[in-house]
Amino acid sequence: MRGRAFGFVYLRSVKKIQDIVRQNSFAKEDLVALLQAEGSDRQALFDAAHAKKLEAVGNKVFFRGLVEFSNICSKDCLYCGIRKSNEQVVRYEASDEEILAACRFAWENRFGSVVLQSGELSSSIFVNRVDRLLKSIKQLSNSELGITLSCGEQSQETYQRWFESGAHRYLLRIESSSPGLYAKIHPNNLHHAFEKRLECLRMLRDCGYQTGTGVMIGLPFQTMEHLADDLLFLKTTDVDMVGMGPYIEHEDTPLYEFRNQLKSKQERFDLALKMVAVLRLLMPDINIAAATALQAIDPAGREKALKIGANVIMPNLTPCDFRKEYQLYEDKPCLDEDADLCRNCLEARIELAGGEIGYGEWGDSIHFFKRKKPSSDHENS
Ligand code: 5AD
Ligand code: FES
Repeated sequence: MRGRAFGFVYLRSVKKIQDIVRQNSFAKEDLVALLQAEGSDRQALFDAAHAKKLEAVGNKVFFRGLVEFSNICSKDCLYCGIRKSNEQVVRYEASDEEILAACRFAWENRFGSVVLQSGELSSSIFVNRVDRLLKSIKQLSNSELGITLSCGEQSQETYQRWFESGAHRYLLRIESSSPGLYAKIHPNNLHHAFEKRLECLRMLRDCGYQTGTGVMIGLPFQTMEHLADDLLFLKTTDVDMVGMGPYIEHEDTPLYEFRNQLKSKQERFDLALKMVAVLRLLMPDINIAAATALQAIDPAGREKALKIGANVIMPNLTPCDFRKEYQLYEDKPCLDEDADLCRNCLEARIELAGGEIGYGEWGDSIHFFKRKKPSSDHENS
């Protein structure tokens, strides 16, 4: 960049990507520069993120067997295929037996952990059911299976109860950290309030959960600045885990109207990979999931994310008959692979990506334990 001062022409230095990736803290403009890196700069970002991952969390990839146990949802997010108003969806609720069989499969195959995910409900029937399931999963696995929940916004009391019944990690994506953009992708009512989402993230942390959040990448109306702010949000909220992937339009949702304004799927995919890499530089010791949505665009999408910063993958254990009804977005992968096939296919993929699978391990967030330690311990360690 050229500037003029006191009559002299001087060259204001533009930071090189190779220098930015070596920093330990990052200003917003650094993050924007990294997200815009192309060619050899982009490769330098990926190399640095890979090295940072090895240094901070090692080479292991942890499995979380994903059980999407119900697609019944009380909310109407404008991007989501299973939103309440989508009448094309056949609603289902897996039985306790089906859910527990999927968890038993995870345990017997030494997956280490499961994720129970569903649409958002808060009736006492739903809350009690999840509570019962948590206890049963602990029982069937001699307390060996780790359990992550992803069941949306709930009361502090519910979060606390589920925590005491055995869930120790919780995923609740902020979707976008910009209140303005959040408002554009959700209905404008109290049931879809940005503040409530933030409050839930605080409550989860207070209850003692390893807390995970994340955003969608390539949303309509989203800019590079929004994404850089999302990264800074993840850092300042000090989360333990992140899952973030490309936004993929779904025909039966209101946001589909804006499909012509989107970046190409390939561009959204590339941006999502860069977000993962930059996040690894920004938060070296957290867990980062290789989002399933990456694979909806590129068959090797999740492996690519593992190579450049992610360390968690969620093999789908949802009973096959239900999978086609849990279409949050178009082209969701693994619709007809059963759990065995999924596992074999994942093993091969992870080895191809140069990773080692942490069989039978919970693979908890190292960041979580560090933040729980009193600061004097930090100084001594
Ligand atoms: N594209 C990509 N991700 C989506 N999700 C929901 N709908 C879409 C979509 N159309 C993500 C949201 C949600 C998670 C369960 O799935 O981020 O938190
Ligand atoms: Fe179900 Fe958003 S549509 S939580």
